Amino acid sequence: MSTKDQLLLYLKENQGNWVSGELISNNLSVSRSAIWKHIHKLKEEGYTIESAPKKGYFLSKASDPITADEIREGLCTKVFGRKNIICLKETDSTNTRAKELAAQGAPEGTLVIAEKQTKGRGRRGRNWFSPPGGGIYFSLILRPAMPPGETPRITLMTAVVLAETLISLVKLNLRIKWPNDILVNRKKLAGILTEISADMDAVNYIIVGLGLNVNNLFENSPQDIKKNATSILIETGNRVPRIKFIQNYLKLYEQYYDMFKKNDFEPIMNRWRELADIIGKQIRVDVIGKTHIGEVMDVDNDGVLILKDDQGRLQRIFSGDVTLARQVSARSLKKGG
Ligand code: BTN
Repeated sequence: MSTKDQLLLYLKENQGNWVSGELISNNLSVSRSAIWKHIHKLKEEGYTIESAPKKGYFLSKASDPITADEIREGLCTKVFGRKNIICLKETDSTNTRAKELAAQGAPEGTLVIAEKQTKGRGRRGRNWFSPPGGGIYFSLILRPAMPPGETPRITLMTAVVLAETLISLVKLNLRIKWPNDILVNRKKLAGILTEISADMDAVNYIIVGLGLNVNNLFENSPQDIKKNATSILIETGNRVPRIKFIQNYLKLYEQYYDMFKKNDFEPIMNRWRELADIIGKQIRVDVIGKTHIGEVMDVDNDGVLILKDDQGRLQRIFSGDVTLARQVSARSLKKGG
């Protein structure tokens, strides 16, 4: 084990307490200046360590860095995140980075993760606000042997894995919003951006990007984010260690992905329907240049929304923004009054 790793272990064993430089120096048999140098490196990696004369060093309990080593330690997967984890302090978009790596041949299960994104991308050309500190921004490379037409299923599956991971970690009354947002109290907690490279009959790779608001408070965020987004910390009052979420998500993702590859998609889709709770609801769907209003009859296994309009006609909708009819009428009333 390197001196830096030994020092980190020592600080973790004493997390939340001050430990003197002298004590560390004696225990690890290294000089005080070497300790200082390694503390500096650890801080650069994102660990929150205070230092004070006469007191020594203090690893804060709120310290929550995302590093490849932290992810690997205690990760129970066979493939995902095992070999290739690319952890970046800052990047434009982890999906863009992952796409480049996939095009160069990076294997299935490669994970690209960043503390901050400067051009985080959302669905339908939107931005994904990605400040450092409280969020999780990562992209996973998949290489499933399947025809391109079936890839929307990966997105539906991802939404289920994300929801189940959150449910098992924290008590949240969440909903999947078609096709794949996660909402809590009608505010957005997480989003998924799936991008694909394929030939006519086969997928080359799929990039599954995930943005999740974990410990964000949105203090310096744009107004629309403050209004429409939420985080686990806001909803529960508790901070969740981001590493724990990432490890649990990767483990569950691998299990669902194995099921998916065995063509066992029906139970996944049934769970999606349960978590979305949209069937039978009156909704409005805004598609580019068009609005559909009607009752949801189903969301099929390819993620297509089947809507019955007031003439009784069935519409098949492939993508768009959904608003529940109750919210639509409340908003019209507000505007009118
Ligand atoms: C959406 O709801 O519009 C999807 C948001 C997806 C955001 C994530 S953050 C990590 C990955 N990299 C990106 O640029 N986007 C996705």
